[in-house]
Amino acid sequence: MTKKISEIVRKILNADAPVDISIPDEELFGHYSTNIALRQAKIKGVPPLELAKEYAAKIAAAAPAGFFQKVEAAAPGFVNFWVSDAAAQDEFKRVAADKNYGAGNVGGGRTVIVEYSQPNIAKKMHVGHMRTTIIGAALANILELSGYRVVRWNYLGDWGTQFGKLIAAYKMWGDKKLVEKDPIEELQKLYVRFHAEMKTNPELEKRGREEFKKLEDGDRENRKLWEWFKKESLKEFMKIYRILDVDFDEWMGEASFEREMKATVKELTDRNIAEQSEGAIVVNLNDVGLPPALIRKSDGASLYLTRDIANLRYRLKKYRPAKILYVVGNEQSLAFEQLFAVAKKLGLGDVAELKHIKYGLVLGEGGKKLSTREGTAEMLEGLLDDAVVKAREVIEAKNPDLPPDKKREIAFVVAMGALKYNDLKENRTTDIVFNWEKMLDFSGDSGPYLQYTYARLKSILRKSKASSLRLRPGAINASLLERAAELALMRKLFEFPDVVERAGELYSTSTLAVYLYKLAVAANKFYETTPILKDEDIARRDARLLLIATAARVLQKGLGLLGIKTLEKI
Ligand code: ARG
Repeated sequence: MTKKISEIVRKILNADAPVDISIPDEELFGHYSTNIALRQAKIKGVPPLELAKEYAAKIAAAAPAGFFQKVEAAAPGFVNFWVSDAAAQDEFKRVAADKNYGAGNVGGGRTVIVEYSQPNIAKKMHVGHMRTTIIGAALANILELSGYRVVRWNYLGDWGTQFGKLIAAYKMWGDKKLVEKDPIEELQKLYVRFHAEMKTNPELEKRGREEFKKLEDGDRENRKLWEWFKKESLKEFMKIYRILDVDFDEWMGEASFEREMKATVKELTDRNIAEQSEGAIVVNLNDVGLPPALIRKSDGASLYLTRDIANLRYRLKKYRPAKILYVVGNEQSLAFEQLFAVAKKLGLGDVAELKHIKYGLVLGEGGKKLSTREGTAEMLEGLLDDAVVKAREVIEAKNPDLPPDKKREIAFVVAMGALKYNDLKENRTTDIVFNWEKMLDFSGDSGPYLQYTYARLKSILRKSKASSLRLRPGAINASLLERAAELALMRKLFEFPDVVERAGELYSTSTLAVYLYKLAVAANKFYETTPILKDEDIARRDARLLLIATAARVLQKGLGLLGIKTLEKI
């Protein structure tokens, strides 16, 4: 609808660019509004309200007959629009008939690589990995619907000096049987022990470095151990990905770029981008106000950042992406600023748009930070289990008579909905807090509320026994939908494609999540205030049912983009 209005206004005013149309929070200020008069007044040096009045009159006179109910100027210089019921009803029929509703084409088939999840092998995923995983998956879905070709990339943390330490620890204290039984748990214990003993035995540090050097040089035994650690870790990660229902197209991790290290360092030094500094090799980033980027340590070990440079080259060559999104926590901001600055010096900065998609911490109740180093972390596995247990309690209380396996199924879907929504509704860069009560509140701003709304809409449709043939848009008389709650719900539905587009442009899942909440509120308001199954006018009942069906479809589609499943019954 905003596109339609934008186009009408652009034509009438002879504007050379598309006119921005916004949606005021309150109907009092129009169903739609534009600030074009404000902006033009500034350029022309005329009073904005005068210009807004002039525009409003012009638009009202020249708009297609019956499209607007009212066009009005408002201080300090807005032009506000109220569309007629007929225009909304027409648009609703179009929306109801559109099988691909929400799909857009800002992407124009260009490629975007979305890198997310990136767990480190031999280490449990912690709650921070949950954020990258679900934010990344949601952004990938949103961008795909916006017409991008999306490559979902899990850049595994499978290389680095820590593997030298782990191998050393395993050789000293490892027990194959124990590792096989509970791989990551056991490996992590070895690693923690190594760190603890390093404090009193500095020799160990050296030992770790040696083992890593051997690994780098292709030592058979170390290579085998590393491969085994990786294989076992992946098995555990896959369990979590099945629970979270996410997938990837590329799994190439840091180790895949090890071979490119020498060439990368050589290129950087040959082109005088990097220089020697106290035995190490660094890129001086003074010119952009950043601390120097370490490319190679004095002991010759390559680094995280260097692997990222090699990886970037590979990605640009293989996929020719328009954008690369790195979904990684706030705390790595500096690393990415440095990476992008080095990329620029290499002439790679403008080949694709590189973006660090940052996010905040996951805080426990009480606002404390959760950390993984000392083995005291809040592990993702535990958190997922907790979520299901808590959801089960809520379902048990709400619906005690359901058969146990139904309860289990519902609890699982509701738990994931609660977790994902709690994360995705927030502004990415802020920290999120776990409050199970709020997250699982069926009447609050929560995933379960949205899932419940969907289930209620579906239940009305089931009870109506109306076939989809009967409810096909062409057979419906939409002009019977004239109540305020009906028109408000329709207008909410009209926003969906714009919201998807904006969420993709801003890399903001909360734009979509907040919208879906408002859509659910509008749908609830509609069916709570409007007789549907009891309506004696059959044609009007069918029109209302089509509105219900369409709201359910958009809600399901939007939740699907966020990775949240719906249930026909809760
Ligand atoms: N594996 C890293 C971690 O868990 C994140 C990797 C981020 N991606 C990158 N291209 N550097 O901290």
